[in-house]
Amino acid sequence: MTGRDSKRSKSDETDPLIPATEEDRDTVLVVDDQEAVCQLLSRYLSRKDFEIVEARSGLEALDRVREVGPTAIVTDIRMPDMDGMELLARIMSTDPDMIVIMTTCAPSVDLTIEALRAGASDFLPKPVDLTRLYESLRRGIQRRKVRLATQRHQITLEKRVRRRTAALSQALDELRRVNTQLKSAYEGSIELLRRTSAVRDDDTGAHLDRIRLFSGEVAACLGLSDDDVEMIRAASPMHDIGKIAIPDQILQKTGSLTLEEFETMKKHTLIGGRILGGYGVPIFVASEQIALTHHECWNGNGYPRGLAGNDIPVFGRIVAVVDVWDALTHKRCYKPAYSTEKSLELMEQGRGSQFDPDVLDAFMEALPRILEIEAELREMRTKAASEGDGK
Ligand SMILES: [Fe+2]
Ligand SMILES: [Fe+2]
Repeated sequence: MTGRDSKRSKSDETDPLIPATEEDRDTVLVVDDQEAVCQLLSRYLSRKDFEIVEARSGLEALDRVREVGPTAIVTDIRMPDMDGMELLARIMSTDPDMIVIMTTCAPSVDLTIEALRAGASDFLPKPVDLTRLYESLRRGIQRRKVRLATQRHQITLEKRVRRRTAALSQALDELRRVNTQLKSAYEGSIELLRRTSAVRDDDTGAHLDRIRLFSGEVAACLGLSDDDVEMIRAASPMHDIGKIAIPDQILQKTGSLTLEEFETMKKHTLIGGRILGGYGVPIFVASEQIALTHHECWNGNGYPRGLAGNDIPVFGRIVAVVDVWDALTHKRCYKPAYSTEKSLELMEQGRGSQFDPDVLDAFMEALPRILEIEAELREMRTKAASEGDGK
């Protein structure tokens, strides 16, 4: 064992790329079949503060490399059993960063080129110029250390990136999990509000289905974006949720409401706004807006705030039209169902006063599709009811 090896830590042995510390002496393996040459080089280099290990042949040199792991090798070319060129090839195949300086007493340009191409750091003629040898070793070892330090830094960086990527991917998984939970809680609360609305609906929820689908059709004819069309479909069924706070004797009254009863009834808009407001989530913002404004009139004579024209949000103006249409064409506790013709006549009477004329135009454009949807829904309900009776 050399001094350098005895100073190697356990982690050095598992990580060959960790360079020597400042106080480590670099080990140089001197390979020459001539003992005198070997000793000359060894003596000189050991005075230059290198640890020296010697070998008399290429084969022996390979054993020393395995045993001591030198920092650099100075080798003769002509040797018995394995010459310097083969030794160089063997070394380069396992450690391409090794510093190998070739020496020979028969130098030639071809041999020099061959050795350098094969990975030699330098090629020195014999007798070896010791100062040149030392300089060449020093420069080579320095280069090797820089290279190893760069590689070690690269490995550290890669490990850090891998660790951070793993942590990030774990955080993303967690975020996805929380998002999924949040989404289902959110969808659950919307569904809860829809069911709550349906409880007080005078048509066991069928009115809310129609409002949802009709609003979407009118919004599309009005040229709203796909996102807005989806939004009004999702938000409009909650337009009357405030009715949960209105007494049954008012909601189900067959005759006209007294002034006082009507004032109470009007409050369902504000109560709906209070139920749906304050969450800051788009669907709740839209639902609140619709609950608050679906009884406002284009001319400002509606309630609860008496908003007029474009001060009424477009979602509120759309639901105002389809809500009245649905009330006209269906039986209510206070009125029979009117025919399509009569309902259309009454709708037209509200143009520019109760209804936004543009929204009414969009409604008229959507009317064929609205009547189709109405028929489809009726058919589905009849079928569902007959299946229910058959059980
Ligand atoms: Fe309403
Ligand atoms: Fe309604």
